[in-house]
Order: sequence, then structure tokens, then C-alpha cells
Amino acid sequence: MNEQQRKEQAQIKQDNHPTDVKSGKDNIDRIKSTTSDEMIAKYFQANYQPPDINKARKRRKEDVQFHYDFSIPEDMANIGKGKKFLIRTYGCQMNEHDTEVMAGILTEMGYESTSDTNDADIILLNTCAIRENAENKVFGEIGHLKPLKLEKPDLILGVCGCMSQEESVVNRIMKKHQHVDLIFGTHNIHRLPHLVKDAMFSKAQVVEVWSKEGDIIENLPKVRNGKIKAWVNIMYGCDKFCTYCIVPMTRGKERSRRPEDIIQEVRHLAAQGYKEVTLLGQNVNAYGKDFGDMEYTFGDLMDDMHKIDIPRVRFTTSHPRDFDDHLVEVLAKGGNLLDHIHLPVQSGSSEVLKRMNRKYTREDYLELVRKIKKAIPNATLTTDIIVGFPNETEEQFEETMTLVEEVGFEAAYTFIYSPREGTPAARKKDDVPEEVKKQRLYRLNELVNKQSGESMKSYENKTVTVLVEGESKKDPDVLAGYTEKNKLVNFKGPKSSIGHIVEVKITEAKTWSLNGEMVEKTVEVN
Ligand code: 5AD
Ligand code: SF4
Repeated sequence: MNEQQRKEQAQIKQDNHPTDVKSGKDNIDRIKSTTSDEMIAKYFQANYQPPDINKARKRRKEDVQFHYDFSIPEDMANIGKGKKFLIRTYGCQMNEHDTEVMAGILTEMGYESTSDTNDADIILLNTCAIRENAENKVFGEIGHLKPLKLEKPDLILGVCGCMSQEESVVNRIMKKHQHVDLIFGTHNIHRLPHLVKDAMFSKAQVVEVWSKEGDIIENLPKVRNGKIKAWVNIMYGCDKFCTYCIVPMTRGKERSRRPEDIIQEVRHLAAQGYKEVTLLGQNVNAYGKDFGDMEYTFGDLMDDMHKIDIPRVRFTTSHPRDFDDHLVEVLAKGGNLLDHIHLPVQSGSSEVLKRMNRKYTREDYLELVRKIKKAIPNATLTTDIIVGFPNETEEQFEETMTLVEEVGFEAAYTFIYSPREGTPAARKKDDVPEEVKKQRLYRLNELVNKQSGESMKSYENKTVTVLVEGESKKDPDVLAGYTEKNKLVNFKGPKSSIGHIVEVKITEAKTWSLNGEMVEKTVEVN
């Protein structure tokens, strides 16, 4: 930990006295007594600076520091021996990957994983703040876990991830959910050994949330979910400041990992037999823009990925604004760079896009799509769309519908706008009734389903390559995997094909998946 981190840590740390050993009774007392409002308010004024959009906009690039020296302190290496952990993950792939890191750290501390809450000695909720319903789910789960905590006072219950970067959430947990032992933010994951130890021995709630924009901690241990596909972070944070989005506040500023670290990680995964990597970032196209010492962009990184002997490379998620010609050129080389591109558009109306601060127009987006399709004629495009942004008119919504048709998206994640505290859009008055928003979402989904169904239908009687991931959840005799274009395929085939790329002839198309029969051949070349 450096001096700066030490200072940041002091911002929100509550009563950490590892020598002050607590008992089960202390825990019960804490859960039953609620901390007073004044105490919390005073605490926040003195110690905690919540993520702030104005400050966030003035972020300085040079503040990012790289750390390669993570290790579990000796006195914590065996703290979990004979104990079990459970991490429940909400939200995006970034969170899923953070869970793999936390699982890695806990495993190195001697803990074993369990999927049974009754068996767990530590339960962490890795939360998502992107929409209100994601937050409601987490508060529901915190409530459900209270009887278990009362029954097992030594259980450590922790809340981490994006919600814990929000002052209002931390406040609410401190006031109303005293049975939560530990709250820590997205910049504090590497501090997990210390935080667990503090939670074990402290009588009070342990809260550590750094509002700092974040460093890059390399060499964190990971327990990956499976041995076929892997997530690889290439950058953290977001500096785009779309007016509806909480991410720039919860995940800090854009900061890129060094290319050599990413390349080494992917090479290592390939050597271990992984068949697919997905490069992760909130806005991968901004990769490298923060390097002060060299010109190296996302296109350059993808070009280096192209040279690595791993069959499939995906990336998520892209911002149309930063999707440059060099990247299109590199992706057109094909090979292990797949021709499925997820390109969130959010709205088809230039006026709404302006209010969203997306920094491109409908025409810019369509022009980019034309470029991609020209360079990669078979490209499949998918997207994210928000309906019911404040004051969206019927005509503006119709522009979204026509754009969906014009581009021919084969799938889309669609959402009703959800106001997030602290974001500029949340301060706007909104004249669109909830019922109208729901209808718009319904109409949009009908259109997306229709387009997805049609694209699926075009695969009937064709042969596709599938990376076989395992048995289907519904029927163990059926295997399941994904095509290069990320279509789910269920088919009958030998179990020995799990973990391999095989050819499957499609016999039947459904709206969101394909059924088929394996053609006796393994294809595993780039
Ligand atoms: N309300 C609704 N959807 C949102 N998204 C991000 N913020 C919000 C919000 N406040 C959607 C965007 C983004 C996806 C990950 O979630 O479409 O691309
Ligand atoms: Fe949020 Fe994505 Fe916009 Fe960044 S680019 S602010 S993560 S929607």
C-alpha cells in the first residue's frame, strides 16, 4: 500500500481494531442496536467523500499507479482453513470477473467454496448499481440473510461491488442493516485479506470504500469459472460520462493495463488449454488512450491478440465514438478475432443521443455500421438500448425502431431508463409516463425478437462451429455451446467433445437458440 492509498483508506474506515476480539454476543448486540443517524452523518462528513461527478470530470491521468506486489500476509494465509465462502454475483461480466479474483484471494487464505448459504462462513454480495431493480434485489437478499446471521453470529456477511461505491447505499446499510459485517468498494478488492481479518475481530461494521479513481493491481490470484472460456480485464473505469450512467462514479477513471501484461495473461490461458478469451472493459475502444509514454490503441492490442494461438477472442463492451478505422481494419483480418460485434447504440435519435452525451449522432452510428459491414461482410451486430429516457417523444422512440431495422441487430439488451442518483439525467424532469415506457419496451422487444428469430432461421440446414461448454442444464444427454457469432446451440454428441470446437449441423431454429446434430469432426484451428 502506498502513501496515497493509505490516505484514501482513511476516508472511510470504521473502527478497525484487530486486537479487539469480538464474540458472537457482540455481533448480536450490534445487529439489534441501530447506529444513530447523527453518528452516521458526522462520520460521513468527517471521513467519506462520495464519488462526485464534477470532481470525477477533473480526473488526472498521471495518478494511476501499477502494483505488481500483491501477496497474502503471512498471518492471514491460513485464516480460512476449514472454512467456506460463497460469493453471489449481480450485474455485468466485470463483476463476474471480480468475483473470480475474490474467490482467488479467499482460496489463498485457506477458504473453500460452497454454494450452500447454510454452509458458508463468509458470504459476499458482489453488487450492481446500473439500474434500480438491480439494487432492490440486493437489498432483498440482505434482508433474507438476516435470520441466518442471527443464527450464526460468526458468519461474515459482506457487501461489495458497485453499490458500495454509492454513499446512499452505504448509509442505508449502516442505518438499517447492522447485520452486515463488511462493506467494501470496487477499488478495495485487493484489501480483502485485511478486511476479512478486521471483520473477524472488530465489534463494529467494517467499512472501506475509496472514492479514489483507482490504481491497477496486477498479479491478483483468480479462481476462474471453468477451463474453456476466460475473462481478461484490459482496462478499468469509464470517462465517457453518459448522462444516465453511474459507472464513471462507481468504477473510477479509465485506466489501461499494460499490453505486455495482457498478452502474457492471454498466452498463459492459451497454454492452459482455454479456447476463448473475452477482453473486458467498460469502453474497450478507449484502451490505451491514457498511456503517456506510447501510442498503442485497442486496434494494436487486437492485432497482437490475432497472433496468439488461442482459437477465439471476443471483447466487450464497445463505444461507437472510439471505434476507429484501424480497429475495423484489424478485425477484418478474422482468424481468432470473431465477427460478432456488440456495439451499444442506446437510442436511434440524434437529439436523445445528444442529451445522453453519447458524442455521436444517428448518422455517425449508421456510417460506422456501414464501414464495419463493408470490411467484415458477415459481421453480426448486437446492441444495448434504453427506452423512456427523460422526455423521449414518440417520434424519437420511432427513430430507435427504424434504426434497429436498418442495422438488422440480431439481439439487443433493452432497458427502461432508470434514474441513478448523482447522474445528470436524474435531475431532469421527465414527462413520459411509466406505462408509455413499458409499452415502448414491449414494442422494441417484439421487433428485436422478430429479427433474432429470422437470423436464427437462416441457420437451418447449415453447419456451424461450436465451442462445446458442457451438458445442457435441461437435459444431460444434450450438449451446449456457442457459435462464433455467440448463438447458443444444443445438440447431441459425445461428452468427449466438451472443451473442443466441433461442427454441428443445425436442424431447428428457435428465437434465442439452435438445435442440431454434431458432424464428426473437431475443428481447432485459428
Ligand atoms: N437506466 C437504464 N439502463 C441503463 N444502462 C446504463 N445505465 C442505465 C440506466 N440508468 C444500460 C445501458 C448500458 C447497459 C450496460 O445498461 O444500455 O449499455
Ligand atoms: Fe456508462 Fe458505458 Fe457510457 Fe461509460 S460508456 S458512461 S459505462 S454507458
